[in-house]
Formats: sequence, structure tokens, C-alpha cells
Amino acid sequence: MPLSPVLSPRAALWLSAALLAPAAMAQTAAPAPVAATTVQDISLIAGTCANCHGPDGRSPASIPSLRGVNERHLLARMQAFKAGTATDATVMNRLMKGYDDAQIQALAAWFSKEAH
Ligand code: HEC
Repeated sequence: MPLSPVLSPRAALWLSAALLAPAAMAQTAAPAPVAATTVQDISLIAGTCANCHGPDGRSPASIPSLRGVNERHLLARMQAFKAGTATDATVMNRLMKGYDDAQIQALAAWFSKEAH
């Protein structure tokens, strides 16, 4: 692999990956884009909610279901958790601080749909 004279951070990352795993490198055409929140990202994040909110957001117990709930309601609730203004929160305040606004919006849209 020819070395370019100016090594960008991404190229440097690639290079170290290439040195560590030449076989894997050969199969990787390009690094995955990292900027945008994709549908795949959201389905992965949404999967972590299942522990408490039930598989696919359909809760079998006292924790509220998320699936099919009005998008604006979900969004408002998650924003209140993140802002720390939801007075009933036990765990969600802390949890929502880990997500940015775009992810919270995408989660609200994701769970508001009846099916995927
Ligand atoms: C550790 C368990 C747990 C996890 C994981 C969890 N939640 Fe919650 N969630 C709760 C509980 C408990 C409540 C009730 C409010 C509270 O006690 O914080 C709640 C409430 C909510 C509400 C408000 C529902 C309503 O109608 O008022 C939303 C929206 C929500 N969670 C979204 C999510 C999303 C999205 C995820 C995944 C990113 C998630 N939660 C992960 C436990 C959890």
C-alpha cells in the first residue's frame, strides 16, 4: 500500500487498522460514515430500551410502553428527562443525558410508528 505524504487522521486510523489486520483491511472498501444518525443507529439504540420498556417497546409490566405512542408525547417526555424537569423520573433523567437532540427525535419517531 503506497503511503501518501500527508496522512490525515482518518488515513492514519486506516493505516493502523491495516497493520493490525491486513486481511480485514483488504475487505473494507471505505470507512463507514460516522456523522449522520442512521436508521441502523436508531434501531440499535432502541434495542437498549427493550430491557425496561419491553421487546420492541411493548412493555409487559408497569414501565410505560413506547411503541405506537404519540411522537410529540414521546419527544416532550424525553426532552424533559434530558433537561431534568420531569418530576416523576427515576432512571430516565440520567439515561436521556446520554443522547443528543437528533437521537432523541429519531427515537420518538421510531417508537411512535406501530411497526417497522
Ligand atoms: C433501566 C430501565 C430503562 C431503560 C433502559 C429505558 N427506560 Fe425509559 N423509562 C423507564 C422508567 C422506569 C420510566 C418511568 C419514568 C422514570 O421512572 O424515570 C421510563 C419512561 C420513559 C418514557 C416516558 C413514557 C411516558 O409515556 O411517559 C419515555 C418516552 C422513555 N422512557 C423512553 C426510553 C427510551 C427511548 C429508552 C432507550 C433509549 C429508554 N426509555 C430506556 C425505564 C427505562
